[in-house]
Amino acid sequence: MALSTQKGGAGKTTLTVLMASYLQYVQGIDVAIIDCDFPQYSIDEMRKRDFKNMEENEELRRQAYEQLTRTRKKAYPVLVSRPENAIAKANELQNLANPPKIVFFDLPGTMNNEGVVKTIANMDYIFCPIIADRVVMQSSLAFAKVVNDHFITTGQSSIKGLYFLWNMVDGREKTNLYEVYEQVIGELGLSVLNTHIPDSKRFRREGAKDDKRPLFRSTVLPPDKTLIKGSNIRELADEMLGIIKI
Ligand SMILES: Nc1ncnc2c1ncn2[C@@H]1O[C@H](COP(=O)(O)OP(=O)(O)OP(=O)(O)O)[C@@H](O)[C@H]1O
Ligand SMILES: [Mg+2]
Repeated sequence: MALSTQKGGAGKTTLTVLMASYLQYVQGIDVAIIDCDFPQYSIDEMRKRDFKNMEENEELRRQAYEQLTRTRKKAYPVLVSRPENAIAKANELQNLANPPKIVFFDLPGTMNNEGVVKTIANMDYIFCPIIADRVVMQSSLAFAKVVNDHFITTGQSSIKGLYFLWNMVDGREKTNLYEVYEQVIGELGLSVLNTHIPDSKRFRREGAKDDKRPLFRSTVLPPDKTLIKGSNIRELADEMLGIIKI
């Protein structure tokens, strides 16, 4: 599956990491990430930083060790790839002793070359984070409409579903705006997940080496229980697992 939208920082990378870590380290489902975010490779960078923080922070090492002995789950694979080679990269993972059940692709949203289009056509599911911002909505709707009209309704691809996903939702305002957007989405024949991800500082925080606070966004440890609460990460995972039938 892919979390994919046009550029615009609606939360693809953040939600990819959170879902992957939650599923692997909390639910025990083997996952992998193919980071196609050339040239930043932000998840690969995050993984390197997570390992480095672990080397330098005894408490993190203790948590990782505890987690390994309890779950027998090592850190999931994070592979980098040009978007056009992402499917071949994912296929290499099938040779592992524990091949992943779910492979996440952090894809560029721009369908500006044939290779990217082919890769998108090879996804089973696409989840597209959106925020209530006019520019992000316009480009996301355009992206989803192309995928829907060219691939899904024609049956000319592997894609079984494309879902929008509200991210950075501020509960106190904009309710009306969300309703208006949902109506437009519905009129285009597209779907939105029921789970909304709130706007919250915990999503922005990286674990630093001398940070004693509980971790949320890490590629080697699960999001801390106290921070999962109120984040809707569990609800999102349950809804996604229901859709992809795992
Ligand atoms: N629910 C949230 N609440 C608060 N901040 C969030 C939330 N989700 C993501 N963010 C923050 O928003 C910023 C953009 O998120 P992210 O990098 O995941 O977006 P992206 O879609 O991958 O962007 P790009 O298109 O540049 O790759 C990050 O700083 C991230 O920490
Ligand atoms: Mg990103």
